[in-house]
Amino acid sequence: GLPKYVKMVEVGPRDGLQNEKAFVPTDIKIELINRLSEAGLPVIEVTGFVSSKWVPQMSDHTEVMQGIKMASGVHYPVLTPNIQGFQSAIAAGAKEVAVFGAASESFSEKNINCSIEESMERFEEVIKSAHSINVPVRGYVSCVIGCPYEGNIEAHKVAEVAKRLYSMGCYEISLGDTIGVGTPGSIRKMLEAVMKEIPVNALAVHCHDTYGQALANILTAMQMGVSVVDCAVAGLGGCPYANGATGNVATEDVLYMLNGLGIHTGVDLYKVMEAGHFICSALKKKTNSKVSLASFST
Ligand code: HMG
Ligand code: MG
Repeated sequence: GLPKYVKMVEVGPRDGLQNEKAFVPTDIKIELINRLSEAGLPVIEVTGFVSSKWVPQMSDHTEVMQGIKMASGVHYPVLTPNIQGFQSAIAAGAKEVAVFGAASESFSEKNINCSIEESMERFEEVIKSAHSINVPVRGYVSCVIGCPYEGNIEAHKVAEVAKRLYSMGCYEISLGDTIGVGTPGSIRKMLEAVMKEIPVNALAVHCHDTYGQALANILTAMQMGVSVVDCAVAGLGGCPYANGATGNVATEDVLYMLNGLGIHTGVDLYKVMEAGHFICSALKKKTNSKVSLASFST
């Protein structure tokens, strides 16, 4: 059966904004995050402590981290690709971090400039330092279905990378369909392989909606027991190192589906839609959330 509660992990401020070409003012980022906190989202990924040369949009990571109002009980993880990023994140006040690897060698090289093997060594260093100060570490695996450079990715490769991150101590593994090519069939096959290595309660799905399959893929994952779902307000975003990849599944659309299924989330749909409206106005963009479009156009 389906889970009774689903933890929604809001990645819009990071995954959603990192791909915006024009710099989004820091105060807009901060207000977006504060609005998302008020909407009841339990986890909000705030920013990436990555190189400003690689992703200029995230160069205000410290100011954003220090500018937001942290609501009690809400988690505010940040991306940390290496020990340098980790140290900056902790100095800025981060209490939770995420490392991000890939199941594709070429994607790893393009995204974080190292092989999968080298990335695991870097992550191990981050995880050890994090655990020594009781900071939990989330682990991402990108390209769990397909890679923009290599095409199809084998499920066993995903399971292998996910298992390494989990064995090193990541408390949750987020499986990223970075370019949104998965379908319920391929998602099921991939999850079956991963679930042989990792307990399902430590798994999350991170579906980009490039091919319009995200909600179907999420429902499939939930039917298999996954109860952590990544999403981005207004369906913002994409990955700068995955050309043509569109945003994550819209938070509003996931929430509408979960509400309809009677699954508890603690998140207020109307407030998420307002946050979506706020950021779309600031970016002068149309929302990618169908639910928001339908609700605000009547
Ligand atoms: P590099 O150039 O190989 O790093 O970048 P390096 O160690 O050789 O150092 C070169 C320079 O970068 C040095 O500065 C370092 O200080 C600096 P210089 O001496 O030349 O002035 N540097 C840093 N600066 C700030 N923060 C750091 C840092 N590390 C080194 N952490 C690096 C390697 C990993 C830093 C780079 O490739 C990078 O920042 N990549 C991040 C790319 C990124 O953010 N991608 C998007 C997020 S992942 C994603 O979207 C997928 C996900 O959503 C899941 C899914 O959808 O699948 C998570
Ligand atoms: Mg992503």
